[in-house]
Amino acid sequence: MNATLERWSTRRAFILAVTGAAVGLGNIWRFPYITGENGGAAFLVLYVAFVLLLGLPIMMAEILIGRAGRRSPVESLGHLAALAGASRHWRFLGLFGAFTVFCILSFYSVVSGWSIEFFVTAINGGFVGRDPAEIGAGFEAFLADPWRMVFNHTLFLFMTMTVVAAGVAKGLERLNNLLMPLLYLLLMLLAGYAATTDGFGTALAWLFRPDLAAITPMVVMHAMGHAFFTLAVGACALMAYGAYMPERQSLPHAAGAVALLDVGVALLAGIAIFSVVFSQGMDPGEGPGLMFVTLPIAFAELPWGALWLSTFFLLLLLATWTSSINLAEPMVATLQGRGLGRGRSATLVGVLVWLMGLLSALSFSTLSGWRPLFGMNAFDLVTTIPTEIFLPVGGLLIAVFSAWVMPRHEAQAALGVGESGFFLWRTVVRWVSIPLAALVLAAGLL
Ligand code: PFF
Ligand code: NA
Repeated sequence: MNATLERWSTRRAFILAVTGAAVGLGNIWRFPYITGENGGAAFLVLYVAFVLLLGLPIMMAEILIGRAGRRSPVESLGHLAALAGASRHWRFLGLFGAFTVFCILSFYSVVSGWSIEFFVTAINGGFVGRDPAEIGAGFEAFLADPWRMVFNHTLFLFMTMTVVAAGVAKGLERLNNLLMPLLYLLLMLLAGYAATTDGFGTALAWLFRPDLAAITPMVVMHAMGHAFFTLAVGACALMAYGAYMPERQSLPHAAGAVALLDVGVALLAGIAIFSVVFSQGMDPGEGPGLMFVTLPIAFAELPWGALWLSTFFLLLLLATWTSSINLAEPMVATLQGRGLGRGRSATLVGVLVWLMGLLSALSFSTLSGWRPLFGMNAFDLVTTIPTEIFLPVGGLLIAVFSAWVMPRHEAQAALGVGESGFFLWRTVVRWVSIPLAALVLAAGLL
């Protein structure tokens, strides 16, 4: 009886940790604005296809490597490569992942900082009685204020690195699990309210009736990057969690459950946000400010709006907190593997990410004229290149390693399925995921 209970709770703990990593800004902030910039339904169809054909199979690949290696990502890759008689250079894939999460965390912290500011504003009733134009102008003024941007970035990163240094992420995940249903409920409430607005029908048609002519190689590339980003796949961050996965747990079931939840959160957020967009005659391609402008407008019209809105930003903050802990973990684990203490590793990572994050925080004010590449400023670059190039490249290599390099019986045991299940997974990874990711990367880059 006890043993059963114990196993149940650890299985659950694993799903919680992965859900915590997956559900975050990607669902509620990034999904709506990227969908808005890329034509709506056409993008959505591609994104869901990539979640099924790439994200999910490669998520399993990534976790199974960690589970089979039972070490940090760098060491697991080196160990399994040695077992297979392959090059030890596969270890560098772990370092590449650490570099990818370094870039991602630098802007993730800045945008999560926006939620802190919005939470405080909402709790003080700052959005009550404001009309949409005022709310939009307020957001612009906030972005243009270097001090508030840096302050919130600093605060959020400090919150993240403190939890990482203390090693209490598990406690936070449990809290997250408790509150996740509440986030779901709030988004459902919001989507329900959206159904009563004028923009609802337009929003549904725009989200679910694809215009195939809107599909270009760049839209395909954006959709692939977003599938990796939202599932937290491609940076060896989930590989680190795989090392702690309990013996008897089906990896495909766990991964499938997380993906379903993740897409569900994104869809609810999308329905709510685009209903506001079309009710207010706003531009869906408004960019990274989309969620931060539309949701205060929507909540402002509900009874008890300030209460709902502050609750919403609090829950969002919690979701981004667990994601950023997962983003920091591979870097801290790598430094720790080199003999540095946990506290020092976390401090060093925190300082480096903070410095890098300044580029994003200031790119709406002090550094707005600095456009080092393709006419994009620092924020645009760091929100695009690591997500749309580094994650897919990392994911592709993870897939190759798991399906072509790793010894077969190791891979099958770590996937936790029978003969035919393994054959199905490996066939999909070998002949669908790998060629598809390579093709899209090639088409996007060339
Ligand atoms: N999946 C997270 C989100 O949707 O917000 C972001 C993320 C976490 C990306 C961890 C990559 C990663 F390794
Ligand atoms: Na996500």
